[in-house]
Amino acid sequence: MSSSDWGDGTRSVRAGEGAPVPGAPLRPSPVFAAPFHLGDLPPRTGGADAYARTEQPTLRDFEAAVGDLDGGRCLSFATGMAAISAAVLACVGAGDRIVLPSDGYYTTRLLAADELERFGVRVDYVATTEIEAVAAAGGLEGARLVLLETPSNPQLDVCDIAVVARAARAAGALLAVDNTTATPLGQRPLALGAHLTVGSDTKALTGHSDLLLGHVSTTDDDLYARIQGWRNHTGNTPGPFEAWLGHRSMSTLDLRLARQAANAAAVAEVLAGSSVVSGVRWPWRAGDPSFELASRQMLRPNGVLSAELPDEAAVAKLLAGSRLWAAATSFGGVHSTLDRRAQWGGDAVAPGFVRFSCGIEDTDDLVADLSVALAALD
Ligand SMILES: Cc1ncc(COP(=O)(O)O)c(C=O)c1O
Repeated sequence: MSSSDWGDGTRSVRAGEGAPVPGAPLRPSPVFAAPFHLGDLPPRTGGADAYARTEQPTLRDFEAAVGDLDGGRCLSFATGMAAISAAVLACVGAGDRIVLPSDGYYTTRLLAADELERFGVRVDYVATTEIEAVAAAGGLEGARLVLLETPSNPQLDVCDIAVVARAARAAGALLAVDNTTATPLGQRPLALGAHLTVGSDTKALTGHSDLLLGHVSTTDDDLYARIQGWRNHTGNTPGPFEAWLGHRSMSTLDLRLARQAANAAAVAEVLAGSSVVSGVRWPWRAGDPSFELASRQMLRPNGVLSAELPDEAAVAKLLAGSRLWAAATSFGGVHSTLDRRAQWGGDAVAPGFVRFSCGIEDTDDLVADLSVALAALD
């Protein structure tokens, strides 16, 4: 049985593992080193470890695990944005055109507007629900790179990765997918035709709200080498402590996602049943605009949903009336949190629009707590 035949629980724990070595720790221990003893070995990538900015054993173990889940070769980065900027900047140059989601994570748009455009990269923005039609109409012609974010954050729209991948390849463009919300267990963009899958591992992959990490995976050796070169030159490599903690944390990804998704299913019903809440979005809820495609394309649900309360004051009142929902940005952690997105200024959303990230608390406790807090808003 190869590791790709295993279930998600086994893969979360065992991904990337080599053959057991008697007397070695059961799971990899961190190796804290910047330089390594060289002796008379030539320093080179892929050979003996020489300097941790380019390679180190703890990072290799973590990357082997994440790459195994993604179905490609992984390069880990200090944050999700470091991974996204590496994927973009290693692939495009002055005069190139890139296509980005107009409704995806807003810092990616800031990266484009504040950094890429001043280096002569032309940027076009397309909404997640419109990218298939734009691709079908030839709108990817002349693009060097297309980035999708599906489900999009924070509005949770989805698009058909395989359809866009075919159009991108026909147009000679590279396709990258921000897979942060789905996680590598929830969606495999490389198997659907993408050249690159990128993610903020700050979110559910590591899932404890105490770590910043990101990664890029690919099956293309040339792209891998180019992005690895970018990382070596710009120095966005995570240190061994982060890599070790990320690896340790992802062992429970399957368990965490299962509870978060069960909580999200219940929370979606509580929100939908409230007279003060509108526009509940969870792609795995029957009737959601994303439901049909998410069910077909994705491998499993997760704990992120969104909804609209009447205004900013209603969100504050909801938080004041709750013991279990904390105001915090980011998502995918073990604590349940909610984020009023308009306060950050980057998303085209109403003042009362909220992204809910369900943690791994007991479903009954979360539902009871939210129901009490919502009832006070009626
Ligand atoms: C979809 C998505 N991509 C990328 C990022 C950036 O990740 P990081 O904060 O780890 O740089 C985020 C962060 O919220 C995100 O939600």
